[in-house]
Amino acid sequence: MRDGETGIGRLIEARLSRRQVLAGSLAAFAVAGGTTAVARSPFPFAPVPANTRDTIALPPGYRWHVVARWGDPLWSDAPGFDAESRGTGASQARAFGDNNDGMALFTRDDRIVLCVNHEYMNNAVAFANRASRRPETADDIAKSKAASGVSVLEIAEAAGRWGIVVDSPVNRRLTADTPIEITGPGRGHALLQTAADPGARLALGTWANCGCGQTPWGTYLTCEENFNLYFSAGDTAFRASPEQHRYGLGAKDRGGNWVATDPRFDMSRHPNEANRAGWVVEIDPLTPGSRPRKLTALGRFKHENAELTLAADGRVVVYMGDDERGEYLYRYVSANRYRPGGGRGDLLENGQLSVARFHDDGSGKWVALTPAATGMGSEAEIRVHARLAASAVGATTMDRPEWVAAHPDRAEVYCCLTNNKHRGRKTNAGGDAMPVGGPNPRPANRYGQIVRWRPRDGDHGAARFGWDLFVLAGNPVVHRDARRGSANVTADNMFNAPDGIGFDPAGRLWIRTDGKSGRTGHFAGHGNNQMLIADPVTGKIRRFMVGPRGCEVCGLAFAPDGRTAFVCIQHPGARGSGHFPDGGEAPPRSAVIAIQREDGGPIA
Ligand code: FEO
Ligand code: CA
Ligand code: CA
Ligand code: CA
Repeated sequence: MRDGETGIGRLIEARLSRRQVLAGSLAAFAVAGGTTAVARSPFPFAPVPANTRDTIALPPGYRWHVVARWGDPLWSDAPGFDAESRGTGASQARAFGDNNDGMALFTRDDRIVLCVNHEYMNNAVAFANRASRRPETADDIAKSKAASGVSVLEIAEAAGRWGIVVDSPVNRRLTADTPIEITGPGRGHALLQTAADPGARLALGTWANCGCGQTPWGTYLTCEENFNLYFSAGDTAFRASPEQHRYGLGAKDRGGNWVATDPRFDMSRHPNEANRAGWVVEIDPLTPGSRPRKLTALGRFKHENAELTLAADGRVVVYMGDDERGEYLYRYVSANRYRPGGGRGDLLENGQLSVARFHDDGSGKWVALTPAATGMGSEAEIRVHARLAASAVGATTMDRPEWVAAHPDRAEVYCCLTNNKHRGRKTNAGGDAMPVGGPNPRPANRYGQIVRWRPRDGDHGAARFGWDLFVLAGNPVVHRDARRGSANVTADNMFNAPDGIGFDPAGRLWIRTDGKSGRTGHFAGHGNNQMLIADPVTGKIRRFMVGPRGCEVCGLAFAPDGRTAFVCIQHPGARGSGHFPDGGEAPPRSAVIAIQREDGGPIA
């Protein structure tokens, strides 16, 4: 695959050439403030007031439309969405999935392709035709499994509106039943062997797909998060092992009752099946028919996203959060170097996984998860039970690490710590303390914060880093203590639960939220979930968009010409709160929307 044909490919090429020119990150730091950040105003739009309406709110001069909704067919042989039945197993397998989350855009020649994660099926909406509001029949379960996974879809713009290119040769659905190659240290290992796959080479399915990443060789990284919810145990004598307990695996199904038609989800019969989930999966979206890969080298946990960048010497660096209270922040560094044009090789199969330790003095360290450091017997065991390995080396328990984003031009990385009501009160699921301090400075943290670190010598491969807090979310209207938030939080831009983040090519940080929408109490004035833009140089933050009721604002991607932003609106109308995007009495549907300026100019 050619390099530089994706957005991230171009960003990484730019990073490489800048590094070569400047020969050192101190210089890069000094220059970056002047070069990247935005010669013009970083906020060429009016701030959007918080609100609790059931639609998208944008600054004056902007408009939006729907690109793809849950249940929209990707092929012409599929029926259109049926608001009565809300789809079948067969229709869902040929249509855009539910709960769109992480998303990335790829281009080749004139083709523009989105990869979109589907985190889970919104049972209360999808099974509104069932008394239980849950999957009841075998076909319901097929629908639930097909609604999860990933959609690959070509999109095109006609008469100012973007839509799905139905029947495009690249259109593709990955579901909970798609065959996926197991790669890395876990391939063939006893911990991943099952009755159906004794060689531990081919797993079935990807689900609970949350955040994402992109590689410079043109592939998509989809991240498996709450995989545990779909497993259960039919044997009443089942007791979760400490490892299963740490990953939230228990006797009761909390997903789509998949075990009723697929016994591999019964841990009392197939104990290793759950070890084959919780990974980052790599997909080549521009090569239809290519087999996806589960990347065991990157570790097994509740993956949020996978932010790929390069060390000074060209090794591949992947930053990853594990989104659970008191879990950890990880870094993977490949053994070999990426060479532009050289392809992927074993860059995501052969490398070192480390975990972050933060110190109160603003320093931090990546601690390598080796057999010697963890006391574990093999590289495979360390990757499969990464949480236990990280506990063994005394990593810092975090306030739920969500997305990580690396600045496009300088060695500076941001991670959303969304909230943690147990901070200072309880331990994590492994019994590790969650003391107040460091990057998790508030007890019973209900608002969240964004931590930022700068690797030593500007090298993402360095073992040490310095860190600070970019923003502490809060509510300065109702609180006067630390819950008011940091100085860059005001009555006009306040928010809670920062979750998705990513940079635009101009070096601005786009923040999406997954929090409480509030009219009263701690969240009074926050309104619905939203998207804000931050200037990393000044720390200033301005609200750009408010989503509809009940939604979370998730994935973000930009059209190649910079004139459209694509945004994932997940579970709008949750708990009966609304009918986005179609209004009236229509069922609410997760959707990818396109945002443009009315004058056709660059998006922001
Ligand atoms: Fe899928 Fe951590 O959000
Ligand atoms: Ca998230
Ligand atoms: Ca979240
Ligand atoms: Ca969500």
